[in-house]
Amino acid sequence: MGYYRNKTVLVTGAFGGFGLCFVSELLNRGASLILSDTPENVRAASEGMVQIPGAEGGRGRQVLSLIPADLSSAEGCRALHEEYRDLGIGLDMIIHNAGIACWGEYADVPPELNEKIIDINLLSVMRLNALFLPEIINRCGHIIYVSSVAGFVATPFGVAYSTSKFGVRGFAMALHGEIGKHGVRTTIVYPFFSRTPILKSRTFGNPAISYLPGFCSSSPGHVVSCALQGAARGKLHVFPGFFSRIMWLASRFHPVISAQRKIRGHS
Ligand SMILES: NC(=O)c1ccc[n+]([C@@H]2O[C@H](COP(=O)([O-])OP(=O)(O)OC[C@H]3O[C@@H](n4cnc5c(N)ncnc54)[C@H](OP(=O)(O)O)[C@@H]3O)[C@@H](O)[C@H]2O)c1
Repeated sequence: MGYYRNKTVLVTGAFGGFGLCFVSELLNRGASLILSDTPENVRAASEGMVQIPGAEGGRGRQVLSLIPADLSSAEGCRALHEEYRDLGIGLDMIIHNAGIACWGEYADVPPELNEKIIDINLLSVMRLNALFLPEIINRCGHIIYVSSVAGFVATPFGVAYSTSKFGVRGFAMALHGEIGKHGVRTTIVYPFFSRTPILKSRTFGNPAISYLPGFCSSSPGHVVSCALQGAARGKLHVFPGFFSRIMWLASRFHPVISAQRKIRGHS
């Protein structure tokens, strides 16, 4: 896919489950990468404890920089932007991928954690865009957002998470209405459950979660491959995999699903 060749791409959450798949696919497709993750993850990667897949040599296969940044605060987002600026290179694409989750009834989850989910999953996206937008507009770039099926289906036992992912979707669509005219592309990706470390996030209380059979969760590689293909085709919304598409269609035809209302009875 020639779309990514010679593009410079910033990936957040680069050493997580989806992150490493983005890295591998983008390197294979000839992109140059700036990778960011938590200071701990970047240290582990620098010390060789995390292998960067596909980074071993070859023309056009390059990781330009590893930037540690805790995206849970405005300072962390600024630090990432400042380190990027010091590189003195242009940027064609941002992949907003960093994220956290937890499971449990809203009242059982510590309020600071609910707020941290919003900080990392939503506010960091808004903050980074505010910082990087001039560069992205200047290069007629592309912004890819990793939302979730929880960004269009209100999801109990993941209230802050679902709020953050609805927020990302609304933010991305509204901003696209402003920056599309500058030639900037937007792609929002809505994965269903996928086998990455985030599925092992902490649980609080004793939520009545029914566990999904394994076949319902997709491989991270498949999700990322669909995301990059959709983005290269200029799609605004990408539903990677059968369950993501089914949930989207179900929520269109039966809006009660996305609103968590009973089909009969009061809302
Ligand atoms: N897997 C799924 O089922 C699924 C479904 C829908 C959407 N998503 C979304 O996909 C994205 C990637 O998640 P994933 O599934 O690949 O999970 P993951 O493996 O946990 O990756 C998330 C990455 O973000 C990093 N991160 C966490 N807090 C951060 C912070 N404060 N600053 C900077 N980076 C931070 C994580 O670091 P740590 O390793 O230290 O946590 C990790 O490297 C997330 O936005 C998630 O919400 C996932």
